[in-house]
Amino acid sequence: MFQQLTALPADPLLGIAVAYRQDDNPKKVDLGVGVYKTEEGNTPILTSVKKSLQILLDSEESKSYIQARGNQAFLDGMEKLVLGADNPLLSSNRVESVQAPGGTGSLKLGFELIKRGNPNAKIWVSGPTWANHNALIKSTGLASEEYPYYDKVNNQLRADEMLEAFAKLGKDDVVLLHGCCHNPTGEDIPADLWPKIADLAVENGFTPFIDIAYQGFGTDLETDVQGVRHLLSKVPEALIATSCSKNFGLYRERTGLITTISESPVAAGIALTHVLNIAREIYSMPPSYGGATVGILLGDEALTTEWKTELAEMCARMRSLRALLVDKLHARDVDQSFDFINRQNGMFTFLGITPEQVQAIRDEYSIYMAGSSRINIAGISNSNVDYIADAVAAVLKK
Ligand code: LMR
Repeated sequence: MFQQLTALPADPLLGIAVAYRQDDNPKKVDLGVGVYKTEEGNTPILTSVKKSLQILLDSEESKSYIQARGNQAFLDGMEKLVLGADNPLLSSNRVESVQAPGGTGSLKLGFELIKRGNPNAKIWVSGPTWANHNALIKSTGLASEEYPYYDKVNNQLRADEMLEAFAKLGKDDVVLLHGCCHNPTGEDIPADLWPKIADLAVENGFTPFIDIAYQGFGTDLETDVQGVRHLLSKVPEALIATSCSKNFGLYRERTGLITTISESPVAAGIALTHVLNIAREIYSMPPSYGGATVGILLGDEALTTEWKTELAEMCARMRSLRALLVDKLHARDVDQSFDFINRQNGMFTFLGITPEQVQAIRDEYSIYMAGSSRINIAGISNSNVDYIADAVAAVLKK
């Protein structure tokens, strides 16, 4: 049986980490997978998370199964974080959440739910989007298409074209939107566009599916989700896939949740039975650790305050690394402006160089980034920024 298989290429993002590890150049730089790093290149456990983990370790009395929908304190805390504690949706009984293995697991549950609700649904993804979005949609067997999003030549949002595309959609369409810190471009939907998207969704009946994996990495926890909250307050139905990998630094604990907003409490209850049934067919119930940890953290005022401070520090550091990189590139007399990097949000930006130039930088400098020229801003440090800027300037001047 297995002899019939042919080998697949490495995953476009995870493969970069493998190649980087195998490179023995002492000057190598990893700007690949989206993982936060300190100046020293480490990804430490956040202190607030470590304290919450310790409380869990001290208090956990059983390794029996957890309930299928996950840790209730986690689900309640995360719904409040994303939607806002005083959001009327939370008391409407139209919102249901299920803990899932990471953002990817949450997205998978969402796509499978859409397939059950409407097998003819088409998922609209931003052009470009996170590579795994396309893989997940394909694996679910749903149709998908790109909507205009990022102008790679001028490094800006294709706002008018995006709205024109949305104006043509209808009730069989689902629009996958990045809640904040767009991956891979870093280019976010500005505050004034969210109400327009909301109006189009209400008028034409398409369903928004929000992927929010970087809340707190853009401006702050509240500002980053203002647009999303407005949209969700207007539409009858929506899905939200939330990840705790980045803002809680829980990458390996695979911690996330899928939230459905339904037209009525009855419809919400029915959707929940399907999400639980889909999860049961794939993995039964979610891993416990990450959700239990976040549940403890968000249920404790002091730990939450500490976490918010740590999150704000990560966010501020990435902002300053953006500015540093732009200054270093401009100091090398390159022809183009990189000012757009300062305007963008979160972990990523496109350098705007060709796949050949990306490969040349990898071959000649051992600097690793996605083929699209997406870089992980957190991989930059004071000690490697000159090396990175030299490499980019060199390939641009060739
Ligand atoms: C990324 O985009 O680099 C991260 O979200 C990690 C991943 O799983 O792709």
